[in-house]
Amino acid sequence: MDFDLSPDHELIRRTVRDFAKQRVAPVAEELDRTKSFPYELVRELGELNLMGIPFPEEVGGGGGDTLAYAIAIEELTRIDSSVAITVCAHTSLGTQPIYLYGSDEQRERWLPRLCSGEILGAFGLTEPEAGSDAGNTRTRARLDDGEWVIDGAKQFITNAGTDISGVVCITARTDAGSSCANGGGVGDADMEVSNFIVPTGTAGYEVGEPYRKMGWNASDTRPLTFAGARIPEDNLLGPRGAGFKQFLHVLDIGRIGVAAMGVGLAQGALDQALAYAKQRRAFGQPISRFQAIQMKLADISTELEAARLLTYKAALLKDAGRSFTLAAAQAKLKTGRLAVRAAEEAVQIHGGYGYIEEYPICRFYRDAKILTIGEGTDEVQQMVIARALGA
Ligand code: CAA
Repeated sequence: MDFDLSPDHELIRRTVRDFAKQRVAPVAEELDRTKSFPYELVRELGELNLMGIPFPEEVGGGGGDTLAYAIAIEELTRIDSSVAITVCAHTSLGTQPIYLYGSDEQRERWLPRLCSGEILGAFGLTEPEAGSDAGNTRTRARLDDGEWVIDGAKQFITNAGTDISGVVCITARTDAGSSCANGGGVGDADMEVSNFIVPTGTAGYEVGEPYRKMGWNASDTRPLTFAGARIPEDNLLGPRGAGFKQFLHVLDIGRIGVAAMGVGLAQGALDQALAYAKQRRAFGQPISRFQAIQMKLADISTELEAARLLTYKAALLKDAGRSFTLAAAQAKLKTGRLAVRAAEEAVQIHGGYGYIEEYPICRFYRDAKILTIGEGTDEVQQMVIARALGA
């Protein structure tokens, strides 16, 4: 077992760390405060070949592996979560389904533009009545005169409403019962879910107003509606009826990216807490000399190391072609909780200043919570883990 990163992995860490410090850090507070999407940063990330890291160069990607991708996401989140989730949702969820399940034509049409960052990809699974219970999809697609006609709604979707959003991959029911008004019953043996590529600008596909969120303020998150939206028959992604399993697999991969966000957020919180504790004086000395502060820093640092190893293990298992569902769920569960705790402890170390928006730790605290909810709640991860244990 080797714990050293390869030169290629060290290089991507350095490249993204430099970019995050030099380009993201100076603007992160303003982007968050003004809730502005980071167009310029996305363009620059595309130029650095960081918008399609884990996809082969032949399709326009960065030619990296999952570990390289996780390291990049970790380094971005160490400075700013909004930029990180934009890259993460675009890569793991928006581009991944087309890479994994697309026909040659679909891949040629979409992947080069997605991987260069010219357009953003989004992923539409969650619905008002299908969150953790992702199989309860109500959105329907029916064939009519050589086209799929889509009706339904998606919510909490990242990257679908920007000026450069190009495509959303969605799940919809295609079983015979799905044309009924009530969509048939949940758990219906005949229920069939398929995936579709819906280009931005499709008539009948509408992107709603952005949500007012607790954090991730510079990322784009909106509801989507489909009212008789017509797409060509060959916008079906992969075989008809394979949609649910496809998306569960995509979510497994996505969980590694979100776990890397947890690692990055916890590391960023620790960086800030340590720096602050060393310069803040109380009772005649820097507060970093007090055991009460040292114990917090020591605990976070130790848990962070364990969480990082778990996340890298999930990435390495995937890269080795081995089963990684369990490791990805464990990594997501562990890192999300750690991120919340690390941000809270770091705010505590900052005292009153931690509650003031001028200090980045305030934003980190707001950004952390979603990591225990988005892309599968802690409770869903626990379900996945318990099932893997055979419980
Ligand atoms: N990969 C591939 N196939 C899988 C799988 C996996 N990881 N896990 C299960 N399957 C297969 C099963 O073998 C089963 O196949 P058969 O029917 O042939 O036996 C089928 O898929 C159904 O599996 P389950 O019975 O286990 O499914 P379930 O209904 O009990 O649900 C779940 C399982 C894990 C709870 C799943 O629904 C889930 O992951 N829910 C959370 C969804 C989620 O993470 N949502 C967030 C999306 S992110 C988003 O939308 C926002 C954004 O843009 C960022």
